[in-house]
Amino acid sequence: MKQRGEKITALTAYDYPTARLLDESGIDIILVGDSVGMVVLGHPDTTRVTLEEMLHHTRAAARGVKQALLVADMPIHSYDTPEQAVETAKRFVDVGAQAVKLEGGASHAAQIQAITQTGIPFMAHIGMLPQHVREEGGYKVKGRSQSEAEALLSDARAVEKAGAFSVVLEIVLADTAKEITKSIAIPTIGIGSGKHCDGQILVTHDLIGLFPWFTPKFVSPEARVADEIRNAARAFIERTRGTAGR
Ligand code: KIV
Repeated sequence: MKQRGEKITALTAYDYPTARLLDESGIDIILVGDSVGMVVLGHPDTTRVTLEEMLHHTRAAARGVKQALLVADMPIHSYDTPEQAVETAKRFVDVGAQAVKLEGGASHAAQIQAITQTGIPFMAHIGMLPQHVREEGGYKVKGRSQSEAEALLSDARAVEKAGAFSVVLEIVLADTAKEITKSIAIPTIGIGSGKHCDGQILVTHDLIGLFPWFTPKFVSPEARVADEIRNAARAFIERTRGTAGR
């Protein structure tokens, strides 16, 4: 698709109905992201998501996918060594994932290479790394300075060399994302990283307005599902209470 100049589309799903609806809509990639920790499990960030939780959600999403490529996120501390990374990746494949993703660039080349050498397709993730949000002190734009942009470009080259088939660029300055996209052969999938990436990914809850308490600045929601849920619940409450004593 990158070679043909076709944009790649990707959204998250953590359950059967959402995965099936996205799949039926023709999305290219469905990611069982560890963002599940925030938008489904109610944690403040993704750092508390466990491997067992990710396997549970991947299993459910896999049942709904026929066409899209199903990628699963490896949670924090499930890939601390290359051996652990391979073991974790295999567990995701066993529950229906077709590819796995972990956060990190050159620092994780050994883990990525170990995974790709076993034949498991791998998607990389560089730029803002949500699993490190506490050390980073927030969700800040990456690649603003020359040195940060150069470090990101080496990360992108390192993950490509280690065998990744694509790389997510999270909250990377648009010009830096453009430069990376031009410099590597594998597709870049951007989130909050401008329009020049080879594809775009969003957290579905943000796109459809299902997590109304916080929407990232770079998202333009296409629906207001939270309002639909509130309205349906209120209508049900009214209808039920209206029949009291009849
Ligand atoms: O966990 C997630 O949903 C992600 C995407 C936002 C890229 O990693």
